[in-house]
Amino acid sequence: MSEQKKTILDEVIQFIETEKELYGSFTPDFIQSDDTDKETGVSAEVASTDVEKVEEKPELTLAEKLNHCNTLDQLKELCERSDELKTDLENTNLVFGVGNPKADLMIIGEAPGEQEDIQCEPFVGPAGQLLDKILGAIKFKRKDIYITNILKHRPPENRNPAEEELTRSLPYLLRQIELIQPKIILCMGKVSGTTLLEKDDALKNMRGTFYKFKGADLTVTYHPAALLRNPNWKRPTWEDVQMVRKRYDELGGKP
Ligand code: URA
Ligand code: URA
Repeated sequence: MSEQKKTILDEVIQFIETEKELYGSFTPDFIQSDDTDKETGVSAEVASTDVEKVEEKPELTLAEKLNHCNTLDQLKELCERSDELKTDLENTNLVFGVGNPKADLMIIGEAPGEQEDIQCEPFVGPAGQLLDKILGAIKFKRKDIYITNILKHRPPENRNPAEEELTRSLPYLLRQIELIQPKIILCMGKVSGTTLLEKDDALKNMRGTFYKFKGADLTVTYHPAALLRNPNWKRPTWEDVQMVRKRYDELGGKP
């Protein structure tokens, strides 16, 4: 407390003590109350110097904010408020993820496209329809698994995500994985695979095997949009998803 304010306060306290002697006790603890400044009439200028001395609470780091999210709903709310998830396409919607929050299988694509942005749901456009067919072939329903992307907003003209966009978005996805705790992660396409595995390799070299990732078995296969362009990749994709189904059953994945 500043000397000046202390002096004024001491004078006020003395004045009140005198008043008490003359007129009896009243509002005994108001001197200690938060409204002291108002009651004593200590000028705002004096009061503000004290306010400045109060140590500013440092802004939480992103890691702390993410750690404070204990549910997907809380994480989604953080994503809604996070400008760093946006791309340079204006007014896009958050495409957070969809499905079972306790899913044993998590599917991770690269970024929302036009339909995904409109419907605020991943994999609902043409590539999504093919993904649904692939999942159906290995007896999965969308509602049983969890589907999301690395980027939570659509890039302009569906261009590949920029390196810095992937870097900005990744911490949110990693927290999403921690909250869901899937047994298996299936990365759709090269961008998703190379980003999570932190290695720049061709898809054909990365696929066909499982990697340990945050307690899950992670694998990579062709992106359904790539299958629409190159049907030769359908056979290896079929092998990959059968491998996923087998491991899922071995690990006691539910349902
Ligand atoms: N491609 C992706 O990677 N993700 C989607 O959600 C849609 C298309
Ligand atoms: N190249 C890609 O970018 N994705 C695939 O799925 C396959 C090849």
